[in-house]
Amino acid sequence: MADTAGHAHDVIEGLLDEQRVFPPSDEFRAGAIIRDDSVYREAESDFEGFWARLAEEFIDWYEQPTECLKWTAPHCTWFEDGVLNVSVNCLDRHIDAGHGERVAFHWEGEPADDTRDVTYDELLAETCRIANGLKSLGVRRGDRVGLYMGMVPELPAAMLACARIGAPHVVIFGGFSAESLADRLDSAGAKVLITQDEGWRKRLKIPLKENADAAADRVPSVERVVVLRRTGDPVPWNDDRDVWLDELAADQPDTCEPERMGAEDTLFLLHTSGTTAKPKGVQHTTGGYLLQAAVTHKWVFDIHDDTVWWCAADIGWVTGHSYIVYGPLANGTTSVLYEGDPACPDWDRHWEVIEKYRVTAYYTAPTLIRSFVKAGPEYPAKHDLSSLRLLGTVGEPINPEAWLWYWRYIGGERCPIVDTWWQTETGGILITPLPGVTELKPGSATVPFPGIQADILDEAGEPVVRGSGGFLVVKNPWPGMFRTLWQDDERYVEAYFSKYEPSIYVVGDAAKQDDDGYFWIMGRIDDVINVAGHRLSTTEIESTLVEHPAVAEAAATGAADPVRGQSIVCFVLLKSGHDQTPELAEDLRHFVADKIGKIARPAAVLFGDDLPKTRSGKIMRRLLKDIAEGHELGDTTTLRDAEVVVDLKQKADLVMGRSN
Ligand code: PRX
Repeated sequence: MADTAGHAHDVIEGLLDEQRVFPPSDEFRAGAIIRDDSVYREAESDFEGFWARLAEEFIDWYEQPTECLKWTAPHCTWFEDGVLNVSVNCLDRHIDAGHGERVAFHWEGEPADDTRDVTYDELLAETCRIANGLKSLGVRRGDRVGLYMGMVPELPAAMLACARIGAPHVVIFGGFSAESLADRLDSAGAKVLITQDEGWRKRLKIPLKENADAAADRVPSVERVVVLRRTGDPVPWNDDRDVWLDELAADQPDTCEPERMGAEDTLFLLHTSGTTAKPKGVQHTTGGYLLQAAVTHKWVFDIHDDTVWWCAADIGWVTGHSYIVYGPLANGTTSVLYEGDPACPDWDRHWEVIEKYRVTAYYTAPTLIRSFVKAGPEYPAKHDLSSLRLLGTVGEPINPEAWLWYWRYIGGERCPIVDTWWQTETGGILITPLPGVTELKPGSATVPFPGIQADILDEAGEPVVRGSGGFLVVKNPWPGMFRTLWQDDERYVEAYFSKYEPSIYVVGDAAKQDDDGYFWIMGRIDDVINVAGHRLSTTEIESTLVEHPAVAEAAATGAADPVRGQSIVCFVLLKSGHDQTPELAEDLRHFVADKIGKIARPAAVLFGDDLPKTRSGKIMRRLLKDIAEGHELGDTTTLRDAEVVVDLKQKADLVMGRSN
């Protein structure tokens, strides 16, 4: 385990002192959906009543709920007797209202000219064909369906097809390896897996089917593998298990009677990294989750009928679930869906797409903004970005320099930037500006969304004084919160609700509040690394490394990285008989990438003769981080062997190109 308090202290100390304030312009405020603070006051006086009102406004129910919140901490239900279907809320009702010809997705493939507009009518028909196809394979309400795909319109259609028949989906990011895929499918007990022949990424074809095969071979619950033809290249085929999606769906009717789902029925599972090697299956509901996604999408991004929305995340992460699929479709929005890499063919691909579709609201991660900064303002300058009226960020703290660059070169100094803080577990945005109301401070996610009681507590559970750092918590439930971890309620209680009262959700981030009550998120306080906005568990990386025949012991840490936020640095002790060579270090980097996925590839692997441990044998991660980042080492007197760190530091400085 990490020495958590020390780490928390470190991250808090890194707080940036940014003073500039950006109020909404009169013009933006005048056209905004939320223009004053009345929603905050409404929610403050009665947060349950507030959400109940919105549940009526935002959702079409078969049976309107008469119940609102039931809270037996740390377990809650919302709108428990309400009956609805998510796909009907995302598709049918817009078509019934006469918007069937509206574009749901302007799809841009990575190869140029590979584009397609998908209307709401077409998306419903495709959803129903896939839903009927899944039923023909024996998928029933409650069965889990794995989705391992790229960013193609069939992915949202498949998610909605699952929602239509009441089968929770489990999306696995297409960049994950066969092994990570297998772990997630196995933990969810998925019955069917939908994948594609190959996916496009950075002009390369990613062998999704091949990985899917390797995973399905290992997971007995997977009975069938459904394959979308994307690149058309030949792929290995197993007649007993595999079926092409087009053949499965071709003869199916394009209507499908929706299942009537209870609000508390599970809509999906999504895995995220925790402090152990085993990923957590975060479980989200039908009613509360949909409400949270829809309301936050509309209010935070100020979505109007003529908005052209682009969330540039991957659907494999929660951001894509909530703000590419469920929020936007529930609001009947037109979105861009882009398949590929932001630098393909060059660093202006996003700006070209914004110009092409006249995108009005654009949402991405700070890590990508920092890559854009590095590429240079000449790329956006080549394009007309005047359609933009709002920008957003998510996934990690944004440094004020990147914020100001985004404001200036992308937003033309007229677009509010909403820095949205949330997590896989929260389902939707919890701390954020409302762009027609909130004054922005670069680097701060600003204030809790109406109805959310966030606070910062010290170790003893007392609120810290303004300006001091502590543990970020949420003190009341919200409709979109996860209900538990799949088949592991004990871990749900232990990991999130055991530090203080069972009613207090412990987020896992350190934060502080300034004198105006604005929240400044400082990063994780547990053994989780945030690489380019993605959560990775140090423990998962460590247990992977020790699977390598040459490795005796390993410790992974996050080191500050100017573009990716953090990068992974691993310290490795070898078994006797193995030499500390650069080739082996390289081999280990590839080993981790193959086992977990490319996002987990360590930036550096450093060999040591020992690791810095306390006398009780606990690895001092704070020291490893200092070594990885090239900081002066603080107090090492509690170490079993202080020489170890001197040796590691010399090696680290050498490998990372730092001279003393
Ligand atoms: O540390 C926080 C960081 O990302 C974590 C959640 O990661 P994940 O579940 O993968 O979801 C990412 C997308 C919602 C948080 O615990 N984080 C997320 N948004 C922000 C952030 N840190 C600072 N500012 C943000 N806006």
